[in-house]
Amino acid sequence: MLPQRDRDQGRDAAAFPRGRNKAMRTVPAPSRTIRQARNRSAMREIHVLHGPNLNLLGRREPAIYGAATLAEIEAELAAAGAARGIELTFRQTNSEGELVTFVQEAGLAGAGVILNAGAYTHTSIALHDAIRASGAKVVEVHLSNIYSRESFRSHSFISPVALGGIFGFGALGYRLALEALLSLAEQNRAAS
Ligand code: DQA
Repeated sequence: MLPQRDRDQGRDAAAFPRGRNKAMRTVPAPSRTIRQARNRSAMREIHVLHGPNLNLLGRREPAIYGAATLAEIEAELAAAGAARGIELTFRQTNSEGELVTFVQEAGLAGAGVILNAGAYTHTSIALHDAIRASGAKVVEVHLSNIYSRESFRSHSFISPVALGGIFGFGALGYRLALEALLSLAEQNRAAS
């Protein structure tokens, strides 16, 4: 793959094909600094956000959630991100308000979000609103298949405002979510 700068130039060349009348360009082309900042916000950054009780992964009902600790899941994901040149930010909280703040911050920063909101998935209109309000691009992840468990887990306040969701594949779901966000970012870059 070409270095980022070269890909920028390729994209600009496509946006302004040779021979096109420059006088038609009423808006000046953005500076390289601005383009780079846009590319970063077009998903050079991904936040991985975890809600309540996920800090207990590894010891919490391993038959349902698996044996991996949150630290292990994060380390594996960080390595997968690093291999793709992507910086991942990991945050976990047991508090709904704090999770709302994390979502807002990620969304307003233009970061992609991998979100396992734990039980707040099923209860939190505040999280739903935070995703809408901040424009966060969220992939919803659940380790377990929430639709094959108790009926109260079958409703998600996140799904209607998420790009999509992955559930039931354990820790693999996070890597699939990362791939999904990166593929979407690539498609958006190619289309812009
Ligand atoms: C969970 C599913 C939720 O129903 C539950 O409250 C969790 C974990 C999952 O990853 O499978 O805390 O989000």
